Amino acid sequence: MTPAGALLTARDLRKAYGPTHALDGAEFSIHAGEIVAVMGPSGSGKSTLLHCLAGIVTPDSGTILYNGRELSAMSDAERSALRRTEFGFVFQFGQLVPELTCVENVALPLRLTGAGRKAAERTALGWMERLEVDDLKGKRPGEVSGGQGQRVAIARALVSGPRLIFADEPTGALDSLNGERVMELLTEAARSTNAAVVLVTHETRVAAYSDREIVVRDGRSRDMERAI
Ligand SMILES: Nc1ncnc2c1ncn2[C@@H]1O[C@H](COP(=O)(O)OP(=O)(O)OP(=O)(O)O)[C@@H](O)[C@H]1O
Ligand SMILES: [Mg+2]
Repeated sequence: MTPAGALLTARDLRKAYGPTHALDGAEFSIHAGEIVAVMGPSGSGKSTLLHCLAGIVTPDSGTILYNGRELSAMSDAERSALRRTEFGFVFQFGQLVPELTCVENVALPLRLTGAGRKAAERTALGWMERLEVDDLKGKRPGEVSGGQGQRVAIARALVSGPRLIFADEPTGALDSLNGERVMELLTEAARSTNAAVVLVTHETRVAAYSDREIVVRDGRSRDMERAI
């Protein structure tokens, strides 16, 4: 795989948990604006790969370059700043802060980078409108449905204008109708802002929203030719 001009490239990633080789030479690359699905059986290393690419988990060996800079050469503070400003995250269960209202949740990444409350909530509400959840602004996460919560989580992932969104089974807890809608909204929003997406999923139906598919098996990743 030639990583020329890639936004993020990973080479020969290895990560062991005791005797378990969660990653065993995984490779990855993604270009600006590209949507890449990461597929593979349970336990194959998909989440570990995503967490390493996002700088959340440190691999035992291998290199990860984001915009030409090696993640392992950055300080913890630089890596967290990168996560706050360049990356967005959506997980299987929205992981919204239960004590905050939906609009406060969406505004949180902006507040963490120093934006004032009013301006942050105005921008947040704009994203909530696009994700069709602006009517939920005053509710807390415990008062909204799973699909609504995921849309709020997507608005939060997009609010700071990330270049790269990491999504780990974003539709895993939803029924198929809600899952389709969440995928449509996520991919539309990513395409409209030219954000790249690393999308971990079990479901071929969800992977169909991607430009390219990678298959992870036993901690190794392979490009999969899409059958057209
Ligand atoms: N923190 C951890 N401690 C110990 N073992 C771990 C840890 N995280 C992952 N593993 C192991 O590493 C392997 C890969 O796990 P990972 O979560 O990456 O798989 P996955 O492909 O995301 O699976 P799923 O589809 O079920 O989410 C598994 O055998 C798992 O048990
Ligand atoms: Mg997983």
